[in-house]
Amino acid sequence: MSKADLLNSLYKDIAASKVCNELALQSSGLVPGSGNLDADIVIVGEAPGKAEDAEGKPFVGASGKFLDMMLESAGIARANIYITNIVKYRPPSNRDPSKFEKAEFWPYLLRELEIIQPKFIITLGRHSGMCFLPDLVIGRDHGQPKEVLLNERSYVLIPLYHPAAALYNGNMRQTLIDDFMFTAKLLAQ
Ligand code: URA
Repeated sequence: MSKADLLNSLYKDIAASKVCNELALQSSGLVPGSGNLDADIVIVGEAPGKAEDAEGKPFVGASGKFLDMMLESAGIARANIYITNIVKYRPPSNRDPSKFEKAEFWPYLLRELEIIQPKFIITLGRHSGMCFLPDLVIGRDHGQPKEVLLNERSYVLIPLYHPAAALYNGNMRQTLIDDFMFTAKLLAQ
């Protein structure tokens, strides 16, 4: 089966298993991962917001525009990466995804990563980062690569701040831009 077919069957399984059914019913539908299926880099966000829910694509709203700007200035083409979220339905009023919702989606995120087979995983925000590194302290660990082993496959994980948090906070914004620059250098090695 091709990667596209495997992803389609993954999304069918999410619907058939009624993963986070309450969220599903309150949202416009599942927002699947999007991008290059052969990417070396997968970016993992938290959950779709209003714009993502409306368009059915991750990171197309304000945080997505900021993410695009950072990717461009770091010389990373969005066409070369794959972007997804842990929780794939929009939480009402853009609240944080709950522990339960993240746990429900976690096995599907692992399957998604196994299909794409990236070398690097960039997590955005502590919700996403802590799914991979439960002891993560984002203020301490942001921008520092860590090797993680998931289902016997090893990835280099780089936890970063979430663009939505950094968008209107000058210091965090600059830190995230700097972390993206550093990450791009690491990826180029
Ligand atoms: N924030 C996220 O974490 N994911 C999106 O897709 C959009 C905003």
